Amino acid sequence: MAEPRTRIDPTDPDIYLHGIPHAEFAEMRAGDPVRWIPQVRGSAGFDDEGYWAVTRHADVMAVSRNSDVFSSRENTAIARFQPDMTREGIEMQQAIMLNMDPPQHTAQRAIVSRGFTPRAINSLRAALAERAEQIVGALKADNGDFVTDIACELPLQAIAELLGVPQADRGNVFEWSNSMIGYDDPEFNGADPMESAMGLLGYAMQMADERQTCPRDDIVTTLVKAEIDGENLSVDEFGFFVLMLAVAGNETTRNAISHGMHALLTHPEQWELYKQTRPRTAVDEFVRWGSPINVFQRTATQDTVLSGQQIDKGQRVAMFYGSANYDDAVFTTPHVFDITRSPNPHLGFGGSGAHFCLGANLARLEIDLIFNALADHTPDITLTGPAQRLRSGWINGIKHLPVRYR
Ligand code: HEM
Repeated sequence: MAEPRTRIDPTDPDIYLHGIPHAEFAEMRAGDPVRWIPQVRGSAGFDDEGYWAVTRHADVMAVSRNSDVFSSRENTAIARFQPDMTREGIEMQQAIMLNMDPPQHTAQRAIVSRGFTPRAINSLRAALAERAEQIVGALKADNGDFVTDIACELPLQAIAELLGVPQADRGNVFEWSNSMIGYDDPEFNGADPMESAMGLLGYAMQMADERQTCPRDDIVTTLVKAEIDGENLSVDEFGFFVLMLAVAGNETTRNAISHGMHALLTHPEQWELYKQTRPRTAVDEFVRWGSPINVFQRTATQDTVLSGQQIDKGQRVAMFYGSANYDDAVFTTPHVFDITRSPNPHLGFGGSGAHFCLGANLARLEIDLIFNALADHTPDITLTGPAQRLRSGWINGIKHLPVRYR
C-alpha cells in the first residue's frame, strides 16, 4: 500500500478550526481506513499509547454494534480530551451509562428509556414549542449572535422540562451544565468542569431523594421509584444519569441547531425550500452535515480484525462520525447539503448499537421546533461574518455565528 500523504491526528483541535477536515478524512477512508495514531498527550490514569482511527461508515457501524468485542467501559472519551484524568476519575465515569457494557448497560438503559418513550417526549412538545416561540420572539431586528441568541437556550430548557426542574433552579442548572465540558478553547478555559459537575450531581441527588420520600407524577419519580419489576435507579445512579444528560444533550443539540442555520444561510436556496416546505428530513441532514459529536472510542476486549487490520486486546478504537457521515460508499453526494435527503443513514447519533443516542428523538423535536419558529417569525436572517469554530477535536462546535435579523 502506498504511504498516505498526510499524517494528521484527527483529535487535534487545531485541524477543526475551519470545520471538519474533509480532505484528510477522505484520504484515510480511501487508503488507510483503520489507521494507528500515536497519542501526543496522555493522561495519568491509564495507558494511552495511541488509538486506531476508524473512518469508514461500515467500520463505525461494525464497532458500534459489537459491544462484546468493543467495550465502552474503559472510557469512551479519548485520553487527549481529558489530559488530567486519573484512574479514579475513569472509575467514577463508569457510573455513567455511556461508559457501561451489557448486561449492566442493558439493565440501566431499560430503566431510563422509560423517560424517553415517544409518549414521554411528546408530552414535552407543547411546553418546548412555547419556549421556542419565546426564544425567537425575543429577537430584535438587529445584529446578533445566533449561537447565544437562539441555539443555547432550548436544549437546556428541554432537559429541565424533562426532569421537571423548577424555574427558580434553572439558572444554576444551566450554569453547571454549560461549564462541565472541558474545552481546549481559550475562551472557555476559566470554567472548572469538576466543580460544576459536583454542583449538578449534588442537586440531582437531592431531587431524587425528595421524590423517593414524596413521589410526584413526573419522570424523576418514574426513574427513582419505578414499580415495574421492582427496578429503579438509586439516588447515586440518578445523579450520574443527570450529569450524563447535561453533557450529552446540551452542547450536542446546540451545535446541531447552529450548524443547521449556518448551512441554510450558506445555501440560501435550501433556506427558501425549508421555509416553503418544512421537510421533516431537514433535521437529520443538519445532524449529518454538522456531526456535532466528532468521535467516541471503544477498547478491544480481545484480539480482532477490522477491515483487514489486526487490533490487539486492550487497544483503543476511535469512531469518527464526522468522517463516516461523508463516506461516499454510503452517501452518493455527501458534500451536497440537501434538506430533503432520504434515506439518510447518518451516524451523528452514533451507530445503531446498544449506545445509540437515547435523546435522538428529543433532539429532533427541539431542532424541528426551533427552525419552524424561525421560519414563521424571523424568515429574513443573513450572515454578517464567518462562523467562529470551537477549538475542539471532540465536539464539532460553532461558538459564534454573527447574523442580522430583520
Ligand atoms: C449517546 C450524539 C442529543 C442523551 C449518544 C451518542 C452519540 C450522541 C454519537 C453515542 C455514544 C456512544 O456510542 O458511545 C448526540 C447528538 C445529539 C444528541 C449529535 C444532538 C443533535 C442528545 C440529547 C440527549 C442525549 C438531547 C438527552 C437529553 C444521550 C445519552 C446517550 C447518548 C443518555 C448514551 C446512551 C447509552 O450509552 O446507551 N449521543 N446526542 N443526546 N446521548 Fe445523545
